[in-house]
Amino acid sequence: MLVTGATGFLGRHLLGALRARNVPAAVLVRRPDEWVRQDWVSEAGPVHVVEGGPLAPDAWMRDPALADVKTVFHLAAQVKHSRVAPEEMETLNVEGTLHMVRVASALGARLVYVSSSGTVGCFRFPDVVADEHAPHAEALAGRWPYYASKIRAEKEARRLADKLGVELVIVRPPVLLGPGDHRFRSTGHVLRVLEHRLPVVPRGGMHFTDVRDVAASLTRLTELEQPRSIYHLPGTASTLGAFFRMVSEVSYTSVTERQVPNWLLEGVARVARSSSPRWLPDPVVLEMSTCYWGLSSLWSERELGHTVRPPRQTLVETVSWLREHAPRKAAHR
Ligand SMILES: NC(=O)c1ccc[n+]([C@@H]2O[C@H](COP(=O)([O-])OP(=O)(O)OC[C@H]3O[C@@H](n4cnc5c(N)ncnc54)[C@H](OP(=O)(O)O)[C@@H]3O)[C@@H](O)[C@H]2O)c1
Repeated sequence: MLVTGATGFLGRHLLGALRARNVPAAVLVRRPDEWVRQDWVSEAGPVHVVEGGPLAPDAWMRDPALADVKTVFHLAAQVKHSRVAPEEMETLNVEGTLHMVRVASALGARLVYVSSSGTVGCFRFPDVVADEHAPHAEALAGRWPYYASKIRAEKEARRLADKLGVELVIVRPPVLLGPGDHRFRSTGHVLRVLEHRLPVVPRGGMHFTDVRDVAASLTRLTELEQPRSIYHLPGTASTLGAFFRMVSEVSYTSVTERQVPNWLLEGVARVARSSSPRWLPDPVVLEMSTCYWGLSSLWSERELGHTVRPPRQTLVETVSWLREHAPRKAAHR
């Protein structure tokens, strides 16, 4: 197996899950010296380290250690919820993915591309869900550079894969929580509660799942003879209010009850778009917090054994990990 994005939150858990199944892995990392300094790397077991990135595959794809790779997991991406300078993110997320299709073609391997639930599962109303047949949510999520890049990557990668005869499996998880987010990015919503940085609660929704459940489901894609072209890996959907209440309960941290209606948030987002005051969150973040995120799957439970552990368990373990590893950021109770 070859894993890109191995130094990230999901990559770390995927390597652990592959190791648990005795599946040997190679990782593509841009800074091998930093890789060996990560304190969690020993959890991944022995892996072959290939130096490089998705944007320049000619420099590394002929590494003899990759000759037997049967599955490429492409996780590397930039996740930035802003319209400010999106070019680097767009290039990595779109061109990088197209290069990985070419790599998979050259290696004769299956390509598992980890996209995002937001490419299809973003709605103006709660209780709507997108299954694997759903169209791309271009009208809503396509307004935001990160999701726009993931939508383009999905479409263009599918076209190229069909042309080159590559078996491409697109996997869409929602927000990932759980222990081990050493970049403190994916678990940012939980951290805000722990740090008492939540002045108001938007009315929109949240959909999250446990990073360990996603990693375990991904490993099944090394075994399935004939996987589908798309798998959703849903978790738990709620309003942001219910989500923050759950985090508050499991962490014994108080959160505000002040809710902001969507019309007010949309107005604030307009102000933020025109004058970008430093004290306001990025307008993309404000706009996203007025939307709802719904995802379901027609087949991931049956075919990938995708299970969703109780959401409170994920939150308890996320909080406990953040308190241990982000001690200056996450206030103790
Ligand atoms: N976390 C979530 O809530 C979530 C939800 C849905 C989908 N996803 C998708 O899941 C995948 C993994 O997410 P994650 O949360 O694990 O992300 P993460 O923790 O932010 O890690 C990002 C990974 O991408 C690599 N990367 C970033 N910029 C790069 C560049 N220019 N060249 C090469 N590699 C680069 C990073 O490597 P360096 O160490 O070198 O920076 C790191 O390994 C992404 O494709 C993301 O879109 C994530």
